[in-house]
Amino acid sequence: MLPDVLPRPPAISVAEYQERRDALMAQLPSNAAVLLPGAALMTRSRDSEFAFRQDSDFYYLTGIREPDALLVLLPGRAEGESVVFCQDRDPTMEAWTGRRLGAAGVVAEHAIDQAFENADREAQLSELLAGREVLYLPLDNADAVALAEEAFSVAQAGLKRGRPPLKGWLDVSQLIHAMRLIKSDAEIALLRHAALVSAHAHCRAMQVSRPGLSEYQLQAEVEHEFMWQGASGPAYSTIVGSGANACVLHYIENSALLGEDDLVLIDAGAEFELYAGDITRTFPVSGRFNDAQRALYRVVLSAQERAVSAIQPGATLADIHQGVVQDLTAGLIELGLLEGEVQARIDDESYRRFYLHSTSHWLGLDVHDVGAYRLDEQSPLPLAPGMVLTVEPGLYIPSDDDIPDAYHGIGIRIEDNVVVTNDGHHVLTTGVPKGIEEIEALMAKK
Ligand code: GLY
Ligand code: MN
Ligand code: MN
Repeated sequence: MLPDVLPRPPAISVAEYQERRDALMAQLPSNAAVLLPGAALMTRSRDSEFAFRQDSDFYYLTGIREPDALLVLLPGRAEGESVVFCQDRDPTMEAWTGRRLGAAGVVAEHAIDQAFENADREAQLSELLAGREVLYLPLDNADAVALAEEAFSVAQAGLKRGRPPLKGWLDVSQLIHAMRLIKSDAEIALLRHAALVSAHAHCRAMQVSRPGLSEYQLQAEVEHEFMWQGASGPAYSTIVGSGANACVLHYIENSALLGEDDLVLIDAGAEFELYAGDITRTFPVSGRFNDAQRALYRVVLSAQERAVSAIQPGATLADIHQGVVQDLTAGLIELGLLEGEVQARIDDESYRRFYLHSTSHWLGLDVHDVGAYRLDEQSPLPLAPGMVLTVEPGLYIPSDDDIPDAYHGIGIRIEDNVVVTNDGHHVLTTGVPKGIEEIEALMAKK
């Protein structure tokens, strides 16, 4: 029997994209314009390209998924404030690579006020920007900066005709990223779906796991489930690390055989409608934890559960991370992997031999999503409803002579995705076990 397909959440409405553009423009002076290029196709090798992935900021403001587009926002313009330049309609190219929206399609399907094809860009853009005194663009985007420089030289030439001068350009990214940090209900529904699909995929990997399979076969199971459920694929390169490979934080080779006594760490998340899931589970290849694995796993699990329970408006990621460091350090001392007092081992950072990454990052259109982490140098940003974050403590034990053999090469991480709500939090990544008994029970049900 083929596995069930989960019901899909609704797409984000055209009206919501419009509201986002309006909210961005409301923050800008009336003499400003925004220039925001979308992504281009990228060559994989010779004449093959990677599958197209839209730039997340451009997508957030338009919902358009075609390459080579440019969004121009013109606050207060009577003929319409949003303009998009898009790929030219081209029957020959469309015969090879599929239908293009064209200017008419952009207006009709995406509620953009006016659209032009790229062939008209040079002539139209200088007209649209005439008289705008400040441009907002992503300053790290060479194409956007080149457009601003071009606009500047056109404006210099136009000075003679009495137009107000273009004074310069400022960064638009921070404004968009502050908006993206707080997810709408529709975005949370998509993140929940990405999480659910990812959870199914992890369950599937647990159920097929057995000694003698390879890491890439578990990767294949996980990614099969992503695509079966309508995700475009992984939101980031799938990590399947068995044995000591689990201690390599970004191990993506996934080429080793699964050993009878190994744990395997899978860090994998689906991308659904461009929104990312990001789950890590660690389980015994054979379906049963041994004593050393069980002891270390309990330390990570209780740190992770306490961290999740601390998530609420006003808490900070810095506090949550400090709680995790406290719990992991206490656990390492209890198991004899560190000596002395908890605070002393935190102060001298000796816990970092076993835990060197941070506990959380934002999650959204990007797996390491945008948005500030601090209000200023001194103050971490307090959590607020609508923020979505990961909670992912881990322990990674090197195979060094001073460490008991039983712990050598054990790597454990447990990662969930959590949304901050008005009165606390909601875990998006339910549906895949993380308790020792629950994992063993699921794996026994092959
Ligand atoms: N999958 C990357 C991360 O957990 O941050
Ligand atoms: Mn993560
Ligand atoms: Mn992850």
